[in-house]
Amino acid sequence: MTETKSEPGNSNAMWGGRFAAGPDAIMEAINASIGYDRRMAAQDIAGSRAHAAMLAAQGIITDSDSNAIREGLLTVLSEIEAGTFQYSAALEDIHMNVESRLKQIIGEPAGRLHTGRSRNDQVATDFRLWVRDQIDAAIEGCIALQKAFLAQAQEGADWVMPGFTHLQTAQPVTWGHHMLAYVEMLGRDVSRFRDARARMNECPLGAAALAGTSFPIDREMTAQALGFDRPCANSLDAVADRDFALDFLSASAICAMHLSRFAEELVIWSSAQFRFVALSDRFTTGSSIMPQKKNPDAAELIRAKIGRILGAQVALFMVMKGLPLAYSKDMQEDKEQVFDAADSLMLSLAAMTGMVTDMSANRDVLEAAAGSGFSTATDLADWLVRTLNMPFRDAHHVTGTLVALAESKGCDLPDLSLDDMQGVHGAITENVFTVLGVHNSVASRACYGGTAPAQVLAQVARWKAIL
Ligand code: ARG
Repeated sequence: MTETKSEPGNSNAMWGGRFAAGPDAIMEAINASIGYDRRMAAQDIAGSRAHAAMLAAQGIITDSDSNAIREGLLTVLSEIEAGTFQYSAALEDIHMNVESRLKQIIGEPAGRLHTGRSRNDQVATDFRLWVRDQIDAAIEGCIALQKAFLAQAQEGADWVMPGFTHLQTAQPVTWGHHMLAYVEMLGRDVSRFRDARARMNECPLGAAALAGTSFPIDREMTAQALGFDRPCANSLDAVADRDFALDFLSASAICAMHLSRFAEELVIWSSAQFRFVALSDRFTTGSSIMPQKKNPDAAELIRAKIGRILGAQVALFMVMKGLPLAYSKDMQEDKEQVFDAADSLMLSLAAMTGMVTDMSANRDVLEAAAGSGFSTATDLADWLVRTLNMPFRDAHHVTGTLVALAESKGCDLPDLSLDDMQGVHGAITENVFTVLGVHNSVASRACYGGTAPAQVLAQVARWKAIL
């Protein structure tokens, strides 16, 4: 990183007309945002190029000045991309760094770029464009992860595993069904990101400092050039609004919460006690002291990332709450944590996609676990209702007695003899054993959205068509 600091006594070249002295070094340090808002350089240059084109189209500046500005901005962009750009803390932020360099390159016409514009509408536009790019990346990341879960679901549509409530064995479910639960969650995440995108896609440019401008600008033209649906309708709101970043952080936090839940499952499932899945070498690490270890670090880190993302949202709420209209410098504190949250989310999505793609289920272990813990007790109760026309509450009681009996004998429900069963209820027949197997159990749950392999395959087909 190349930085230059201002010389004491030199007032700011961009706004220093009324200043005799330059800022104190500490003032410069607290004021400068160039250390992080340089991440919006491409958006800043795109916004300025659209603005310059519009100024010429409206006859506010000449075509030759507009061309010089737009060409010069491309040169600045190439310097930034090449890493040769000299950032200056004295120039505060990305907006003034770019404009100042433009002046060095093209001279006088650079001074006409800021006509009918302020850094307030400029930063609001840049930040929206940046967040919009992140929303698009998040949608892409969610869909990639959905596809990874979907591939697992299709392969293991009829593999059985224990379903849990309270992390206690509840009823057998299919592997495919469990994978599809995450496809649903991520589908809602995608829809939240799309909602946020549609809501934020209005252009602040032309709001100028806060009140609009007296120049005959064409706000439709700049909005369209930057891919916005329309210009923001109120100039005060346009420069004061950061809802779009809060929307993005909300959707991100919910998505990160979903990722943390599967991360937690992976941590549990990959343990020696569970052995439900094997994670690949690519997404695990070893221990420097215990040679046998294969740690699910990526899953653990993903489990933790929601803290940063939610923290970013709380921080931005605190920045924005109680701010009088329109712009206040507090709002410069809006960006850094949004950048960090976006980085955390994208990395989590990518790492989770890698883990899900690579992981292999231990089918035998899953199947053995599916049948343990009296997981088909509900099937037995349902059989009593269906076959003996018993009220469900009575069937529940009879089944509970059978579970207690199996527990006292140290066996599972299917291991009880017919004599044992009839000792508890005389009308039970041999036929009961057909529902005590885990495959029969899952196959019987064939209602819409149920865990039956046929339902899983129907949902896989539905999602394949959507994705
Ligand atoms: N760096 C500033 C920010 O991020 C740009 C806007 C400055 N506006 C102002 N009126 N000083 O908020």
